[in-house]
Amino acid sequence: MTAISKLVDARTGAPVPDADPFAPNPRQLVDVDHPGATLSREQVDARTGGVWRFRELVDPGLPVGEEVSLAEGDTPLLDCPDLARYAGTDQLVVKHEGRNPTGSFKDRGMTVAVSRARHLGHQVLACASTGNTAASLAAYASRAGLRAAIVVPANATASSKLSQAVAHGARAVQVEGDFDAAMGLVLELARAGDVALVNSANPWRVEGQKTIVFELLAQLGWDPPDWFVFPAGNLGNAAAFGKALREARALGWIERLPRLAAVQAAGAAPFAESFARDFASLEPVTAETIATAIRIGAPVSFPRAVAGLRETSGVVLAVDDAAILDAKAAVDAAGIGAEPASCASVAGARALARTGRIRPGERVVCLLTGHLLKDPETTLAYHEGRLGPADRANAPVQVPAELEALRGALQGR
Ligand code: F0G
Repeated sequence: MTAISKLVDARTGAPVPDADPFAPNPRQLVDVDHPGATLSREQVDARTGGVWRFRELVDPGLPVGEEVSLAEGDTPLLDCPDLARYAGTDQLVVKHEGRNPTGSFKDRGMTVAVSRARHLGHQVLACASTGNTAASLAAYASRAGLRAAIVVPANATASSKLSQAVAHGARAVQVEGDFDAAMGLVLELARAGDVALVNSANPWRVEGQKTIVFELLAQLGWDPPDWFVFPAGNLGNAAAFGKALREARALGWIERLPRLAAVQAAGAAPFAESFARDFASLEPVTAETIATAIRIGAPVSFPRAVAGLRETSGVVLAVDDAAILDAKAAVDAAGIGAEPASCASVAGARALARTGRIRPGERVVCLLTGHLLKDPETTLAYHEGRLGPADRANAPVQVPAELEALRGALQGR
């Protein structure tokens, strides 16, 4: 740890200098703070460089040149009138994190955590994952020349994500249990000193993920939207976005905060359930949803995710699998495309508009967290009608290799 950054209790802000970010204690999560860090809007506007454009607010103590980077960040903001019509909002833009090097937002946190891990001399990095964190860790560890161990739930991880991890050379372990079981095991391994943990319980991951919000604010000319809607699983993003907005206001970048809206899948919604009880407690559930990326029943970052929701008059809601698949079909049909979990954000915006919480004239940004190609099994199953009624079903057809048969197929016969 450098003199510039310090570890603090995520809930109380009290210094905890002896905490190890790479072996987190889930009962006392820590944040990294950078006292006295400054960065002006003008400096940001004058720079390029994705996550590391914000280095003063992310890891100011990392020597320049030591970044383990694959050119992450700088993701597009896409105005989408078709999706605004679908959601019933006057305006809707998406920030597409699927455009990151490994196809998900995880790369933002991973560049920071892996850079810091290598700087500190860690050799074996590990994560539990529903797939995207695994793919990201595998790529960044390879880039860094370090070893990666990824632990994913057997039979509940999209094959494209597992194949990414394997391709990049990670040791891949499929546990016969769900994500929450895998997470518990990896936390224990890290506490025992076997591996360095780079899940979002590690505060360096959170530092990188803050840049989603920083970059969004810069892209909007420092004029925040009314709503920022995102899918929520393990709650690393929820924690990161609250911290980012707090810092952006403290730096004088913005005066008004957007309302955060965290959207969960109905079968994996302990945060939404907790919100309904004013965050009195978190009651873990056995999670089930088609959106395997957010199939999480005991989110580790719950204690530090609450503040951001409170401070922004935020909301947490749940949408069912049918709504997620319908929103995904709309996102895909708009030519943008994203994986199922990502589209919970658009389904959530639609639900908020329908119930009058998003009001006419309000500006909405939806976060798309992962690329369309992350979960081809689910996309095809939807379009082939194997997941139940599908309003936008568009199944491929197979024909003999004959001209008339092809003509017939093109004419829909
Ligand atoms: N969207 C996608 C595509 C994800 O992969 C995840 C989490 C989330 C949303 C939820 O983000 O956990 O910060 O609330 N995926 C993790 C993984 C759990 O292992 O890849 P969160």
